Amino acid sequence: MFTDIHSHVIWGVDDGAETAEETFGMLKAAVADGIDTIICTPHMTPGVYEFPEEDFQAHFREASEFIETEGLNLKLLQGAEILYTDSTPRLLREGKIPTLAGSRFAMIEFSPTHSKEFIFNALQKVAGTGLVPVVAHMERYPAIGKIDEARELKRRFGALIQINARSLTRKQPFFRRKFFDALFTEGICDFIATDTHAMEGRETCMTAGMKIAEEKYGAECARRLETAARGIIRI
Ligand SMILES: [Fe+2]
Repeated sequence: MFTDIHSHVIWGVDDGAETAEETFGMLKAAVADGIDTIICTPHMTPGVYEFPEEDFQAHFREASEFIETEGLNLKLLQGAEILYTDSTPRLLREGKIPTLAGSRFAMIEFSPTHSKEFIFNALQKVAGTGLVPVVAHMERYPAIGKIDEARELKRRFGALIQINARSLTRKQPFFRRKFFDALFTEGICDFIATDTHAMEGRETCMTAGMKIAEEKYGAECARRLETAARGIIRI
């Protein structure tokens, strides 16, 4: 069974699920996809956009009740995918934005247009709060799209790296494939997660992603990815 540390399953708070029905469908799809724990990570942009916290809590409760009523083998936890802003380190330090399931891991997202300097500076500041930054879907940022940069951000800031399962299941250009090969064979990628947003188009695909990780990079690699995700919810 898998732990999905990146999911937009809670409806009405970001560009993820749009209705309660879609949330319910995505919860069932997650179970069918072999997932037994989801950390719900809605988009947050600290200090720029106000997060609809009341709606999130109400819809999270509704989703948890659905799981109970349906008897699904699924646990929902709370987190956030934090688009890095100037206010992020301060708000993290003050405990005003959530980490992943209350752990010491904070999922940080960047814009694909951010420079390497911006990203490294941001990771340094997040690490300076005492938390461990988890770079959401690292494959999306051209400025740090090479293996040397992946090694560097781990070495300098202790950052962890998450790749979307869908990026493994989709055919990738040659240099992206080489980047993935190095990330996984060197054990630099820490997590794969679904980043699911919808029932269709950006649906869950954890089993397929893990299967590819196992086939291409070995059973040990797949086990390591699974254990790392479970580790977050234990810490
Ligand atoms: Fe996301």
